[in-house]
Amino acid sequence: MKIAVITGASSGIGREYALEVSRTGTGIDEIWLIARREDKLRETASGISRKVRILPLDITDSGCLERYAALLKETGAEVSLLINNAGYGKLGDFDSLAVSDNTGMVRLNCEALTAVTALTLPFMKNGGEIINVCSIAAFAPNTRMAVYCSTKAYVLSLSKALRGELKKRGINVLAVCPGPMDTEFLPTAGIAPGSSHTFDTLPRVNPSVMARKSLAASKKKKGVYTNRLFYKFYRIIAKLLPHSIVMKMCGT
Ligand SMILES: NC(=O)c1ccc[n+]([C@@H]2O[C@H](COP(=O)([O-])OP(=O)(O)OC[C@H]3O[C@@H](n4cnc5c(N)ncnc54)[C@H](OP(=O)(O)O)[C@@H]3O)[C@@H](O)[C@H]2O)c1
Repeated sequence: MKIAVITGASSGIGREYALEVSRTGTGIDEIWLIARREDKLRETASGISRKVRILPLDITDSGCLERYAALLKETGAEVSLLINNAGYGKLGDFDSLAVSDNTGMVRLNCEALTAVTALTLPFMKNGGEIINVCSIAAFAPNTRMAVYCSTKAYVLSLSKALRGELKKRGINVLAVCPGPMDTEFLPTAGIAPGSSHTFDTLPRVNPSVMARKSLAASKKKKGVYTNRLFYKFYRIIAKLLPHSIVMKMCGT
C-alpha cells in the first residue's frame, strides 16, 4: 500500500495539499492526515475522494510520535510522499514573546519535523518524495520574527543536506518557500491589519496554487520552490546583499 502523509492537514496549505494529492496523486492508495483537531481533519477528509486515515496527533508529543511510528510498522505502508507542513510563527520582539512560544516554534517547526522525517524514512523507497514547507522567512533573518526565521532557516538547510544524502536512495527533498498566505497562520502569529507595515504591503500567495505548483516542482525533483516573481527576486536579493541590509529593507 502506497501512502501520502501530510502534517498540518486540518487547515491552510496543508488542507490544500491533501485536496490536490487526492485529485492528482498517481499511485497513492491512502492519504494520512495529521494535526491536533480531529473535527477539522474530518472537514479536510470530506473533500477527498480516496481512502483517508485521520490521525489526530500532536507531533510535538513523544507519545503521539510513538503511535505514528507504530502505525507505520503495523500497516507495512510504503510512504511515497511525506509533506512536513505543520508549523507556526509569532510576530514580536524576542523578549516580548512568551518563552513557551519561542521554544514552541523550535519544537514544532524544527524538532517535530525532524522526528517525523526520521520515523518515516525507513518506510520510503526509490521514487519517494519529501516536501518540507519552509518560508521566505528562511532566506534572511528578520527582526520581530527572530525565532520563526531561524526555524525556517533550519528547515531550508536540513532539506538541502538531506536531498544530497537521499539522492542515492532515489528520494527527493523539496523545500517549499511561500510568502504570506491568508490562512490561520496570520492570526495565530498575531499578524492583523495594522500590526506590521511589511505584512500589510507584501503580496499574498494563494495556498491552493502554491500546493499545486510545489507538488509539480517535487515531481520534477527540484530542491527549492518559491512562487511569485516578487519572492523569487527577494530570494536572489537575500543571497546577494548582506543580511543587515536585507533586514533594514524588510523591517517587519
Ligand atoms: N500562512 C503564511 O503566511 C505562511 C507563509 C510561509 C510559510 N508558512 C508555513 O506554512 C505551513 C502551514 O501553515 P498555514 O499557513 O497553512 O497555517 P495554518 O492554517 O495555521 O496551519 C498550520 C497547521 O499545523 C497544524 N499544527 C499546529 N501545531 C501542530 C502540532 N503540534 N501537531 C500537529 N499539527 C499541528 C495545525 O493544525 P491543528 O491546530 O489542528 O493541530 C494546522 O493544520 C507552516 O509551516 C508555516 O510556517 C505559512
